[in-house]
Amino acid sequence: MCGIVGAIADRNVLPLLLEGLQRLEYRGYDSAGVAVRDAAGEMKRFRALGKVAVLRDMVEQSDITGNQGIAHTRWATHGAPAERNAHPHMSGVRVAVVHNGIIENHNALRDALLAKGYVFTSETDTEVIAHLMADKLESGKELLQAVVEATAELDGAYALAASSPEDSDRIIVAREGSPLVIGLGEGENYIASDVAALLSVTRKFIFLEEGDVAEVRRDGVSIYNADGEMVERPVKNSMLSNASIDKGPYAHYMLKEIYEQPAVVSETLEGRIHKGRLLEDSFGHETKALLDSTKHVQIVACGTSYHAGLVARYWLEEVGIPCSVEVASEYRYRRVVVPSGSLLITISQSGETADTLAALRGSREQGYIGSLTVCNVPESSLVRESDVCFMTRAGTEIGVASTKAFTTQLVALRLLTVALGRRYGLTTEQEEAMVNELHSLPRQIEVVLELADEIQIMASDFSDKHNALFLGRGPFYPVAMEGALKLKEISYIHAEAYPAGELKHGPLALVDESMPVVCALPDDPLLEKVLSNLQEVRARGGELFLFSDHKVKIGLDRYQSLTLSDIFPGTAPIVYSIPLQLLAYHVAVIKGTDVDQPRNLAKSVTVE
Ligand code: G6P
Repeated sequence: MCGIVGAIADRNVLPLLLEGLQRLEYRGYDSAGVAVRDAAGEMKRFRALGKVAVLRDMVEQSDITGNQGIAHTRWATHGAPAERNAHPHMSGVRVAVVHNGIIENHNALRDALLAKGYVFTSETDTEVIAHLMADKLESGKELLQAVVEATAELDGAYALAASSPEDSDRIIVAREGSPLVIGLGEGENYIASDVAALLSVTRKFIFLEEGDVAEVRRDGVSIYNADGEMVERPVKNSMLSNASIDKGPYAHYMLKEIYEQPAVVSETLEGRIHKGRLLEDSFGHETKALLDSTKHVQIVACGTSYHAGLVARYWLEEVGIPCSVEVASEYRYRRVVVPSGSLLITISQSGETADTLAALRGSREQGYIGSLTVCNVPESSLVRESDVCFMTRAGTEIGVASTKAFTTQLVALRLLTVALGRRYGLTTEQEEAMVNELHSLPRQIEVVLELADEIQIMASDFSDKHNALFLGRGPFYPVAMEGALKLKEISYIHAEAYPAGELKHGPLALVDESMPVVCALPDDPLLEKVLSNLQEVRARGGELFLFSDHKVKIGLDRYQSLTLSDIFPGTAPIVYSIPLQLLAYHVAVIKGTDVDQPRNLAKSVTVE
């Protein structure tokens, strides 16, 4: 969602803050702002509607410097994207605040502050926090105490940083429900909502826990837990490479991430398979014990990660394990009946998605045997709060439309299928076949990537469409859902996915010459059924865009197709996802949209 960065140093921190914001821009990008304490001890604030580059121009045209500051890139929740709603929010000249999250009782707090004479200049919940802190300062509290007392009155989620011109030696930060890290430097320290913001200045990070409040000074950091006790939190070295967040020769992060898939799939398999067998020890003792008692799997996730879960259901039930899948925002708010022996699996790229995290937290009272997260960010909340984790190794994903995170999630889920399948009578031969398919996967993805030029040509016939249908059966139905999601996210073409068998129960009414229909046609037992569904489309003049196996005889009168060769059935949903990613990418490029930062979306949704 939004991004926070801050620093306290003996040097001018503005360049560092702007670079940090640029690196966080993928989290939110409708407006940005920065406030620094200048040499005269005054708080100077810049805010701009639009991207960080607009803010950078504004800052560079001034000669302001400051050695203590906080900055923010925003994804609007309360209040429209507008300069007046951009952070930092200030209460007069006393305190500046940046905030990620949502304060649910902001209306009541606002009314109380209005009654005391505070003047509001924005519609945000964050301005309420700024005035609340100023009110505490006014009553004689020092900044740390003011933050502690103000946050005690907040209901909702927040990661926030407060800086006061009266306080030259510290920035105060607090976390409840949204992530916040402290970066450690030499004689200077930093804060951010995501380590990616600070990788050019440090590798050493402290991850705040829920309820923590911390005082960040030049010479050190003091952390207090929710009970107000001073606590030590471990310092961790981030293994993320700075290069992983550069675009390299690619025009967009999304394209770079699509092309990284052979490598990150290999990474995700590394140390986990060998000579046709799954190396179960790589899961760790605790995971093995949980899998031993698993009789049912409940998968909970959002967005693309949910689609990965839907594919996994076909795989798990194929080897005999009952499995249910649900989007976290629905799951968390309904009464659920949990069958005995159920394992909760959350799937998340970021590990910070608010609904998924809430579902995990709620599950503790629901009788699960335990929780496992399939996640891409080792230090994330989901990893820390789940009983066990299975890490995907996709590296940092910057493009808002998820690609390599999805395929590595599928790889992880396929490995879990093998592990659970072993407990449900999977034979050695079946296991070897599944593992060998995974072993071949990076090469198969490379071969599909070689079709990029042809997919680009296909995309040029697609880009003038206003709607699209994606069809699939079996595990290719969620693959179609993911293909449709990619297209709508980045090209803004309205796209819907349907199980092909449902076509005649409604969507067929939409099909005419102007309706493109996209379909993956693997050589599988449902092929003939899908082909007859496609005949129904052709009979109404619908235009077909097909991705098929070279063994498939299409036998339709008019279509565009690309042929993939020798795809293994088990990993086919992964391989067929790649051309759909490329199709969406090229359509978006032709349409001239902002591929990496599509309008209205954010990479990591840390609010409900
Ligand atoms: C947002 C992102 C999606 C992502 C979803 C779930 O909507 O734009 O790409 O699939 O959140 O995120 P997670 O980090 O939990 O996988």
